[in-house]
Amino acid sequence: MNYTDELRARTVHVNAVLKDYMPRAEGFQKTVIEAVNYSMEGSGKRLRPMMMECTYQMYGGRGPVIGPFMAAMEMIHNSSLIHDDLPALDNDALRRGRKTTHIEYGEPLAIMAGDVLLNYAYETAVRAFEQVPRNEDPAQGYARVAQALWVLATKSGINGMLGGQSCDVEYEGQALTETQVEFINKNKTGALIEGSLMIGAILAGAGSDQVQKLESIGSDIGLAFQIRDDILDVTGNAQEIGKPIGSDVRNKKTTYISLFGVQAGRQRVEQLSERALETFDSLDAEHGFLRQLLEELATRRR
Ligand code: IPE
Ligand code: IPE
Ligand code: MG
Ligand code: MG
Ligand code: MG
Repeated sequence: MNYTDELRARTVHVNAVLKDYMPRAEGFQKTVIEAVNYSMEGSGKRLRPMMMECTYQMYGGRGPVIGPFMAAMEMIHNSSLIHDDLPALDNDALRRGRKTTHIEYGEPLAIMAGDVLLNYAYETAVRAFEQVPRNEDPAQGYARVAQALWVLATKSGINGMLGGQSCDVEYEGQALTETQVEFINKNKTGALIEGSLMIGAILAGAGSDQVQKLESIGSDIGLAFQIRDDILDVTGNAQEIGKPIGSDVRNKKTTYISLFGVQAGRQRVEQLSERALETFDSLDAEHGFLRQLLEELATRRR
């Protein structure tokens, strides 16, 4: 299968996994569940669960234990997007080519939907304990799930995505140094990408040296991903990226692009991407599709 066909097939597959784990909209709390499901639908690229499944396969992982973690990671990512778009944060009305959750359901329910989704992610991830293969040593299977939960929680928290997002909003309107901008980007965006690559390998039983290398690949790719996002915020096409252009300038964000310009941004993305691919090539396993996916992200248009 060529890369484009495989990307399409993998996206369809991730969407099917997500669908399996989404809550049914019923009961008195039906509307907030609808808001949660609304935010999860649409044309998300599903990169994080896709990367996670790739590293799982790369280290010989088989079986369904990865499913709950794939869904949980996308839920945490989506919860961050719902809150990121709120009027109090980036105040954006368009996401994945559709109205943002607070525009569709109102601000109070969008705040709740973000919280519900963050919690539901853990309700979902713990279900991986039920999926530990019975034919292997169960203690080893449970230990892997426990370690994966630890990575999921820490990469999402105050030393990961939420830490980065908190600084991003707190420092709006301030002149930041490159070090501060890099801290924000590595945490708000890099951390979930690091976690995704790591969790797949952990669940497949890869050694800690491999997991550490994947963390470093995720860090470089994640930083590059955010700089590319900031480039697209200046040069992109709203129709193509499905979100508004100029959000960063409007919100007075200091970004790598506001500091150094688009050209330097492109060079930095390329440099980070090359370093990540070098580390990727030093791993004890290979995965042609994942390698190309990581490479393509440097020049993505959406
Ligand atoms: C958007 O992430 C937020 C950032 C971290 C830049 P994605 O570009 O992965 O968004 P979706 O999931 O494809 O919509
Ligand atoms: C947000 O960065 C990263 C998140 C963790 C949500 P941005 O604010 O630049 O993301 P977009 O451009 O709205 O997707
Ligand atoms: Mg933001
Ligand atoms: Mg935003
Ligand atoms: Mg952006």
